[in-house]
Amino acid sequence: MADAPRRIETRLAQAGRNPARSEGAVNPPVHRASTIILDQIEDLYGEAKRTYALDGMQVHEALKEALIAVEGGAGASLAPSGLAACTLALLACVREGGEALVTDSVYKPTRRFCDRMLKRLGVRTRYYDPRIGADIAAQITDETCVVFLESPGSLTFEIQDAPAIAAAARARGVPTIIDNTWSAGVYFKPFEHGVDLSVQALTKYQGGHSDLLVGAVLARSKDWQARVFGAAKELGLGVSPDDAYLALRGMRTLFARLAQASASALTLAQWLETRPEIARVIHPALASHPDHALWRRDFSGASGLFGFVLKPCAPEKLKAMLEGFSVMAMGFSWGGYESLIVPCDAQLIRTAGAWREAGPLLRLSVGLEHPDDLIADLAAGLERLA
Ligand SMILES: Cc1ncc(COP(=O)(O)O)c(C=O)c1O
Repeated sequence: MADAPRRIETRLAQAGRNPARSEGAVNPPVHRASTIILDQIEDLYGEAKRTYALDGMQVHEALKEALIAVEGGAGASLAPSGLAACTLALLACVREGGEALVTDSVYKPTRRFCDRMLKRLGVRTRYYDPRIGADIAAQITDETCVVFLESPGSLTFEIQDAPAIAAAARARGVPTIIDNTWSAGVYFKPFEHGVDLSVQALTKYQGGHSDLLVGAVLARSKDWQARVFGAAKELGLGVSPDDAYLALRGMRTLFARLAQASASALTLAQWLETRPEIARVIHPALASHPDHALWRRDFSGASGLFGFVLKPCAPEKLKAMLEGFSVMAMGFSWGGYESLIVPCDAQLIRTAGAWREAGPLLRLSVGLEHPDDLIADLAAGLERLA
């Protein structure tokens, strides 16, 4: 009888482990290496053996196995940051004279890469409304070489209809990429919804301890894996073995950390919804979220990152609120053990539609502190708005 498929907690505990290759140690060795020594001339130029450490050592392979164990797919390629993983995936798809269709809700540095670097390479970018769904079909032309999704958008939290977008793109032979960092690959499975490439900023939940920058691109098929891995090689991308080790170590506790952050974030979001200072809480698991039905259909959970809009207030009041927190801190990034809050309006760029909220947009990355302490900190912050 075939073994029953193991649950994600078990897969996270086991994936990439090979004690027989590491003197019995449960964790893989960290080989600091550039050079690999080979005994035979045939091995130098053959395909059978690893010939240079940039292609990845045992610890890199173990990390990739763990990533695939979470999200599925035919393979994974590593990159030195989440942003490098976004740009790697795009570069693997585009061609000179072509066009990238990118969600208007995309992470700002990914947008900067499209607007500057891709433009210099002769690739146009057109931004589309994140809620476009199947109507993306009307945007696809013979020049379209890729459709890029980020769901939910990491500032504004629109959930995209990934299956509809992927199906429309596939019908025209166009690949799709999703920045799937928010779900950590745990709560959304891009390949089950027809997406070709999934990007993870492992810097966030997989790393989990705010001490690491690593990214990955997972591929649905062997062909796409070969294409992305080839692009990474052409670009000379590498990840240090120490960083690969830390990302893998973080993944062992990913599910437990994510579950706690997820529960606390929902508690905070529900509490914020009761507060008179708040215009709108933007959390996909709340029934008030405009894409709540899509989230319920496609996701199995929500991570700890969400937004809220304050009623319009004076800038000095906002400053007093944000600079006075004692449990949370202000900072970019997210997915770490510590709660972070950041004002987002300065980062918001929209060209396919307008952002219509009157008050300031804030983003909260809920960490592992007790939710009551976070609520007390937030309550005191909201009092400073008065
Ligand atoms: C949605 C999203 N994708 C990618 C990245 C990039 O990750 P990294 O900081 O590792 O470059 C971030 C970072 O904030 C992000 O929010």
